[in-house]
Amino acid sequence: MTDPAGLVDYALDDHVATITYRRPDRLNAIDGAMRRDINAAFDRFRGDDDAWVAIVTGSGRAFCAGADLRSETGNPAGDFPGSFWERPTVNSFESGWEIFKPVIAAVNGYCLGYGLTLLTWCDFVIASERASFAFPEVTVGIPTIVGALRLPQRIGWHHAMELLLTGERIDAARAAEIGLAGRVVPHESLMDEARALAGRLTKAAPLAQRATKEMAVRGPAMGPVDAIRFGETMRRVAAATEDAAEGATAARERRAPVWRGR
Ligand code: COA
Repeated sequence: MTDPAGLVDYALDDHVATITYRRPDRLNAIDGAMRRDINAAFDRFRGDDDAWVAIVTGSGRAFCAGADLRSETGNPAGDFPGSFWERPTVNSFESGWEIFKPVIAAVNGYCLGYGLTLLTWCDFVIASERASFAFPEVTVGIPTIVGALRLPQRIGWHHAMELLLTGERIDAARAAEIGLAGRVVPHESLMDEARALAGRLTKAAPLAQRATKEMAVRGPAMGPVDAIRFGETMRRVAAATEDAAEGATAARERRAPVWRGR
């Protein structure tokens, strides 16, 4: 199924939503229309009860070449006519929409700028051996903002600063070495690997999985006592779901549970 502007596909299969950037002639660079389509796809995933896991990937040679440098509407944060400063916004998955369902990035090629920022919000990064990664912003005279907030906590200060402050591109092997990619696979098997991982993820109870991810995301920003208190409250809420009852019954009956996501 394709969204109205047709620049991003959303396909659902066995609880796995595959979101594919489809602007290959511009290496999936993000202009205003592309931004709207990307947001629509992630918004749909967030609200789709049948979608438990997402895989995001790109068509053609690139995963995403970042902001569209030829477009006036390429600013991923939005349009700011007549204003020097960007309005502070949280208007996309890359800039902070909360999505606690697991997201896998299947990086098929160039992953630059805002494409790389997306990765810092993904839970899993599988890289094709053809993938390469960079924050080229400083080489075109602009700063990296959300990437600078996110990258150090993912891969450590030194590796993050090397990427952020040189703007240089690294290959898939180096990305795996510094922890930016979880694994590197032959290009032809990229989507099979991503789907296999998604299949493993859909075997777990989706609501318990989301509560666990939410704990991992929110917990560190809280004090330990508040975090544990919040977590124990989440445990109570999760324990009252149909899936929690099914998990207990299935364990008692020594059979595989059938999750419904409610
Ligand atoms: N914005 C708009 N168009 C882009 C783009 C971007 N960020 N990145 C690539 N394109 C376009 C190219 O202009 C070219 O269009 P054309 O065929 O009409 O000339 C097409 O995509 C293919 O790119 P090309 O540069 O010919 O491919 P390449 O393999 O030689 O180089 C890159 C690939 C990614 C190294 C190079 O395109 C590049 O450096 N792009 C800019 C990356 C960038 O700085 N992103 C912004 C981060 S803020």
